[in-house]
Order: sequence, then structure tokens, then C-alpha cells
Amino acid sequence: MPELNTFLANKLQQRQQENALRRLTHNSQLIDFTSNDYLGLAHSEKLFQQIHEKVSTLPHLNGATGSRLLSGNSGYTEQVEQKLAKIFKAEAALIFNSGYAANQAVLSCIPQKGDTIIYDELAHACIRDGARLSFANHFSFRHNDLEDLEKKMKQASGRIFIAVESYYSMDGDICPLKELVSLTDQYQAHVIIDEAHSTGVIGREGSGLSVSQNLQDKLDVRIYTFGKAMGCHGACVAGSKTLIDFLINFARPFIFTTAMPLHSIAAIDCSFDYLRQNTELQHVLQQKKELFVSLGKKQNLRLMNSSTQIQGVILPGNEQVKALSMHLRTRGYDIRPILSPTVPKGSERLRICLHTYNSDQEITSLVNDLASKA
Ligand SMILES: Cc1ncc(COP(=O)(O)O)c(C=O)c1O
Repeated sequence: MPELNTFLANKLQQRQQENALRRLTHNSQLIDFTSNDYLGLAHSEKLFQQIHEKVSTLPHLNGATGSRLLSGNSGYTEQVEQKLAKIFKAEAALIFNSGYAANQAVLSCIPQKGDTIIYDELAHACIRDGARLSFANHFSFRHNDLEDLEKKMKQASGRIFIAVESYYSMDGDICPLKELVSLTDQYQAHVIIDEAHSTGVIGREGSGLSVSQNLQDKLDVRIYTFGKAMGCHGACVAGSKTLIDFLINFARPFIFTTAMPLHSIAAIDCSFDYLRQNTELQHVLQQKKELFVSLGKKQNLRLMNSSTQIQGVILPGNEQVKALSMHLRTRGYDIRPILSPTVPKGSERLRICLHTYNSDQEITSLVNDLASKA
């Protein structure tokens, strides 16, 4: 035990020396430019009440009692899955306990030995972790670079799987989906898309990027998460009925875990109803993003090339970006630094998430503060 503790402590010290030590903090009373609650649903008192009312109509169970394949399934969960399949224009949908689990499941169990997974170099950790768990070969292509992807597809063997995100979580830029699909079609490659940061914020009823571009039938596997703009928790995979049956049989993060409790299912159900009743939210978010970008450009901030609610101001060096984030805290803003190695050295940044509830005044003051320091 002392030997292990010494080893662990040394590793932590190394992190600290690199200025990259992670620490838990409490949610602050600061102005939120950090959370993924883009549409304010997690904070909505009205939605909270609607979920509460819905839960009281369901069987009074505190937990799901087992895996979906044992005692944890319910008619209500299946009903919500059918509703999600309709929203995402898919034959079927399957709920997972988190986006992490859904991505890990898809990547680890669908591509087989001898197949190839090629993922965008900025793909989320759960996509990479899933690929590492798979028996398929796996490597990355340069971010959003279709020429590089084509080069990599030419080197691939077996079935080819391309894993991308709709909105990239660190850079906030968008996958060139139409062009991607026309390229992957030529190589009969299968596209897996993670819509974590576009679920809710775009598309009718929050249906995301691929449905908004009517490309859903060109994509083999789509993953939607509910812990971000939908303000609750969990995720689903949408696709063909055969895909869903396959996942029920082979996806270990689905099979070997306790199912989501009914109150979490109700939260997903109600949050999509809430969004349908409050369609202006997507538009308000768009306006907030446009205000931030136009003010940032006027002030010559080094903005990331993003047209989504996830914005970034580049400030190279872990020390510098951490210091600016601390300074902004003293000014009342909650804005987190994104450090290397999470992003490549030299592209350390402040990640600024816009929300429907950020006032124009707050956005203007933030940009002014950034301009005086960045
Ligand atoms: C792109 C992307 N995919 C998946 C996830 C994981 O989703 P969840 O938080 O539901 O596990 C995240 C979370 O940060 C993400 O950014």
C-alpha cells in the first residue's frame, strides 16, 4: 500500500508540475459560461415540475432493480424509446445510461477483428476508449480533413467505420456531413456520428444535425445524449431495428449494468415535450452565440473557428490560460481553461459555452473583460 501510494503521488506531482492537475470544484454562484445546459432546461423550474408530475403517474420505484435484460425493463422505457426513434427519424432507438456508455458500446462491439475504425482526431474520449476496447484496427484522421480521411480509408482493411461528432466538444466546429457522406459512400464505409452537442440545439424537436440536413438514412449509427442541451441524463442510439437488436445482444455497457430508473426516463420524456412547447429556445441560443462572436471579432479576440454555442478564445500555455480563468472568476464569470494535454500544446484556450439564459449585458461585459486581458 505505501508503495502504491508513492507511485500514485508521483504521478499526481508530475501533473501538478505540468500545471494540469484536475480538481473537483463546487458549482458556483458565478455567471455560467461553462455548463452544457445550453437551453437552460436543467435549470427550468417548470420542467422540474412536469417531470415530478410525470413520475408520480409511474410505478413508484426508486431504482430499476436490474439490467434491462433481467428485471430492469419497462413498457414506459420502450414507449419513450419509440418516441425518440420518431424524433430522430430512425426505425428504432435504445436508451443507454450515458453518452459515454453509448459511444463505448457502439465502437467496441460493432467493428470486428480485421475491420478498421477511423476516428476524427478530436473525437471524444469515449469514442477512442470504445475503439481501444474493440478488436478492430483503429487510427485517427486529421480533424475535419476529408483528404486525409480518404488517404486513411485507402489504407484500411475489412469493414470501414468512420467515427465523427456533429459539433466538436472542444472546438465547437461542425462536421462537414454532406461531403463526408458522399466520400464514405464511395468506399462503402459506415458512419457513426455522436450528436452529443447538437441534440436539442438544432433540428425540429431537437433532432440534431443529421436530421436537420436530412442525412439520417446515410448514417449507420447515431448517438444522442440528454445530459447537455436536454438538461437531464442518459443517451440513446438511433438506427435500424437490426442495429438495436444487435446492441441488445452484444453491447456490454448495455447488458451488464443496472437500467436507468423510471424518473430518469421520465426526465428524458418530459424534456423533449418541453422543447416542443418552447421552440424559441433554439433561436435565442443562436442569437446569444451571434452576439458573442460579433463582439469578439470587433475586439480582435483570438476566437476559435466555431459557428456553434461552443466558443473558445485561444491563449497558448497552461499557466497563462489558467491565470486568465482565475482572473475572470474574480470578475464573476465561471469559465474554465482547457489545458494541454486535453487539447494540443499551443492551442490552450478558454472554452466559453453560451446559454439562452446568459443576458446580452453579461456577454458584452465578458467580451470587454477578455479584450482587456487576452
Ligand atoms: C462529444 C461527447 N460525446 C459523449 C459525451 C459523453 O456523454 P455523457 O456525458 O452523457 O456521458 C460527451 C461528454 O462530455 C461529449 O462531449
